[in-house]
Amino acid sequence: MGLQQDNLLLIVTFSTSGLKFSLTPNFCKHLLRKIMFEQQPEAIREKVKILANKFQESNPTGWFDVLYAEAEGDTAQIPWAPLTTYPYLQDWLNISQAQGEGHTALVIGCGLGDDAETLAKSGFQVTAFDISPQAIAWCQERFPDSSVNYLVADLLALDSQWHHKFDLVLESRTIQALPVEMRSRVINCIAPLVASGGTLLVITRMQDNDVVSDGPPWPLSDSQVAQFIELGLQEVRRDFFSSEVGDSNFKLVRIEYCFIEDDGES
Ligand SMILES: C[S@@+](CC[C@H](N)C(=O)[O-])C[C@H]1O[C@@H](n2cnc3c(N)ncnc32)[C@H](O)[C@@H]1O
Repeated sequence: MGLQQDNLLLIVTFSTSGLKFSLTPNFCKHLLRKIMFEQQPEAIREKVKILANKFQESNPTGWFDVLYAEAEGDTAQIPWAPLTTYPYLQDWLNISQAQGEGHTALVIGCGLGDDAETLAKSGFQVTAFDISPQAIAWCQERFPDSSVNYLVADLLALDSQWHHKFDLVLESRTIQALPVEMRSRVINCIAPLVASGGTLLVITRMQDNDVVSDGPPWPLSDSQVAQFIELGLQEVRRDFFSSEVGDSNFKLVRIEYCFIEDDGES
């Protein structure tokens, strides 16, 4: 019997002499790192901040690929990767009873692919992209038989052929990971991806003011998300969740938008 996590393996053998456990070197390395780092989530967050700040001036999206590369296959090094569906997406799928069959979905900044896989399991025909080639290679390694179309792509330079092509667009925690100076441009690139009659789901940290915090992440403000409305989307519902890290300076928010194309008749 084997318990497999990525390429890490714990082998449990049953024999007449009882249970025998064999740990592969990778599994030992993983356990060690898990023990070291799960006790120090703050250390990983600090590492992310230092790395992001190093890239801030020259290439504000360049640090993601470095972080994934330096993790060397150890998911504990990626602070946003719980290796399961993000609960606020799962909750939305449950309450909306979304039926993906016959519908397309786009996952922006898909990271290690768990949300994309969940949407595919819900029947969507999923395209998932990330700016990090390392992240995309990792997704393909984790889910070799996946129906998801994983691609390396930059949200800020997408082909306009993708405009109005996706019935569901999922943006989970990518806007907040990019500097505030890029925010308006980032939102401008997301809004047009939603097909007529389609849904945009934004899952993000939000704060009550426009003060720029010590990120990443940099929570969004009401005035910033209002840009989605200016770009033609309509807000359907907004759900608030308590902060995951006990920081009362921000709220975790899920906003559902729909896009109804104006047919020109009024
Ligand atoms: C904070 S992580 C969130 C990952 C995933 N959405 C989740 O919730 O687990 C942000 C992700 O967006 C990706 N990303 C950042 N800038 C991007 C861009 N311009 N285009 C595409 N992906 C980007 C990063 O590589 C990273 O995987």
